[in-house]
Amino acid sequence: MKKRPYVICHMTPSIDGKIVSKKWPALQIASAAYERTATTLAADAWIVGRVSMAPYAGKSRVRRLTGKQRMPRRDFIAEAKTRSYAIAIDPSGKLTWRSNAIDDAHVIAVLGERVSDDYLAFLESRGVSYIFGGRASIDLRRVLAKLRTAFGIRRLLLEGGGKINGSFLAAGLIDELSILIAPVADGSIGTPTLFDAMVGKGLARKLRLISISRIKGDLVWLRYKM
Ligand SMILES: NC(=O)c1ccc[n+]([C@@H]2O[C@H](COP(=O)([O-])OP(=O)(O)OC[C@H]3O[C@@H](n4cnc5c(N)ncnc54)[C@H](OP(=O)(O)O)[C@@H]3O)[C@@H](O)[C@H]2O)c1
Repeated sequence: MKKRPYVICHMTPSIDGKIVSKKWPALQIASAAYERTATTLAADAWIVGRVSMAPYAGKSRVRRLTGKQRMPRRDFIAEAKTRSYAIAIDPSGKLTWRSNAIDDAHVIAVLGERVSDDYLAFLESRGVSYIFGGRASIDLRRVLAKLRTAFGIRRLLLEGGGKINGSFLAAGLIDELSILIAPVADGSIGTPTLFDAMVGKGLARKLRLISISRIKGDLVWLRYKM
């Protein structure tokens, strides 16, 4: 089997498993604790879904190519100044990156092969690296193997939202959970949860508790192996 990074799903849900935190009370305390605990996990990259990445990507214009030559569907590894990475699963190429870095992490887009040539040219002009995850759907196992071989990523934080977490869970690709429960009863219906894998009964995977600690601000940090 091909080597892949060790995957830790690191999240801050409410006590009822909800993850849309914008209107939560004392959000700053939870966010700071989230960043602090993330650092202790010593990962060399983080990955999120297209929806969660949108506010970090910002907005810019994708220009139309003038000549009509086709861009090959070949992975593109741009020059990166650092060896830490921010990765987005963006199968249709919807993120219009303003820069190829978030803080000090180099951006990698995971694309479907049906993205437009204009979009690939846009990513290359921005210096954003991209890899292909499949044609009709994204093969997460293949994506992880590429992240390991092409970028040397060994330890990856999976940081939401519910859809990407759910698809990693369904594919059996999460090694560990790092869950920082915010002291909030959210109560919303129909909003994203920690794992949105399938409609109906769900997957019900068994977990093994490895640590539990109380964090300042009434948060509880739970770590599990899958
Ligand atoms: N509390 C926390 O710790 C935390 C952490 C992160 C995010 N969040 C919140 O979570 C919310 C977003 O969650 P979400 O579930 O709606 O979105 P998400 O998981 O961030 O992004 C979902 C989108 O990503 C793409 N995608 C993800 N996995 C894919 C796969 N396996 N194959 C193909 N495409 C895939 C698809 O893009 P397309 O739609 O383009 O096909 C999909 O619609 C936001 O409100 C965010 O603030 C909370």
